[in-house]
Amino acid sequence: MKPLKVINVVGARPNFMKMAPLIEAMEQYPEAIQQVLVHTGQHYDEKMSQSFFVDLGMPRPDIDLGVGSGSHAEQTARIMVAFEKVCQDEQPDLVIVVGDVNSTMACTITAKKLGIRVAHVEAGLRSRDMSMPEEINRLCTDVLCDYLFTTDYIAGQNLQAEGVDKQKIFFVGNVMIDTLMKHREMASQLDLSQKLGLVPQGYATLTLHRQGNVDDREVLKGILEAIQEISHTLPVIFPIHPRTRKMVESFGLSDFFNSSEQVRGIWITEPLGYLEFLHLNMGARLVLTDSGGLQEESTVLGVPCITMRPNTERPITCEEGTNTLVGNEKSAILREASRVLSGQSCVGKVPEKRDGKAAERIVGILLQIQGGAP
Ligand code: UD1
Repeated sequence: MKPLKVINVVGARPNFMKMAPLIEAMEQYPEAIQQVLVHTGQHYDEKMSQSFFVDLGMPRPDIDLGVGSGSHAEQTARIMVAFEKVCQDEQPDLVIVVGDVNSTMACTITAKKLGIRVAHVEAGLRSRDMSMPEEINRLCTDVLCDYLFTTDYIAGQNLQAEGVDKQKIFFVGNVMIDTLMKHREMASQLDLSQKLGLVPQGYATLTLHRQGNVDDREVLKGILEAIQEISHTLPVIFPIHPRTRKMVESFGLSDFFNSSEQVRGIWITEPLGYLEFLHLNMGARLVLTDSGGLQEESTVLGVPCITMRPNTERPITCEEGTNTLVGNEKSAILREASRVLSGQSCVGKVPEKRDGKAAERIVGILLQIQGGAP
């Protein structure tokens, strides 16, 4: 039988840990599945891209579109033009996209218009917040995709409420957690926290990069003021995203940071590799974030997570996990941090099918498709 020819798409940092276990699971069936890995180049800095390939043991991309940064329209358009050519040259049977970044949506639209089937991994997540570019990406991607692989029951309900045919929806679990489980032991062996003089449960980690939080000076300033207050109680390690660094500098807010090797205060670092950051999060007393992935990861690690957003596309992490949504106002961030630090955080449980086997399930379904099913 002819193998199923699949193009796997990655573009930005949160895509790599979702795609890595899928590639590994597909590699078990070289006669049935032929893979081509395309990197759009949406993220391109060593620390935002290449270092993840090394940490996660992923093969290098077969094709790099090198699109780089730009406005949403520019970036999306550049990806579409370049990816169309790839699809025409490669003639895949299926394109697999993950997550909700511009690359996810751009490649989905392009492939579908060429009549190519598309599978979306991490489908059905909804924040209901149309001011988030990611929500637009999620909606456009899901409405077009042929196979929708979901992480939890809520995502399946969302898709059905939007009229998606049940036959297209597969509740498989969370591939990002497959990666976490595979690397947990390895990350625990690192001596990074020791080198930094950090003790387990004696520090917090912070990520901050959402447009809604960092592109407005007053909002960003309020968040940083709250973090600074928290950092008087315990050091806050902040691997800063390039977007945020740019905004902090342009708003004249750099004085908030202490880049010396003092562990009191907000401690700013370059973006960290996957293993290093997992290592730090595993020992953290508290995670402060506006990222999607960290809400999922902290829930599985059992670390309290304060999400500085008014909504989340991952409500299961609040319903069942350790996540609390507080919005981006200083007083609300401080209130919740003080609750957590006084030992009152909720003890969550790990949601269903976060068992390290999501990629295996997806590949099982792909093999059925290859065998002529749906
Ligand atoms: C993107 C995703 C977001 C995801 C985040 C994870 C979209 C709409 N957003 O946001 O969902 O949570 O990635 O990191 O797809 N830059 C660099 N080097 C890089 C990449 C970016 O310096 O390697 C700078 C550039 O100035 C760029 C800015 O960061 O303009 C924003 O990058 P972009 O890919 O547009 O969005 P992110 O904020 O990274």
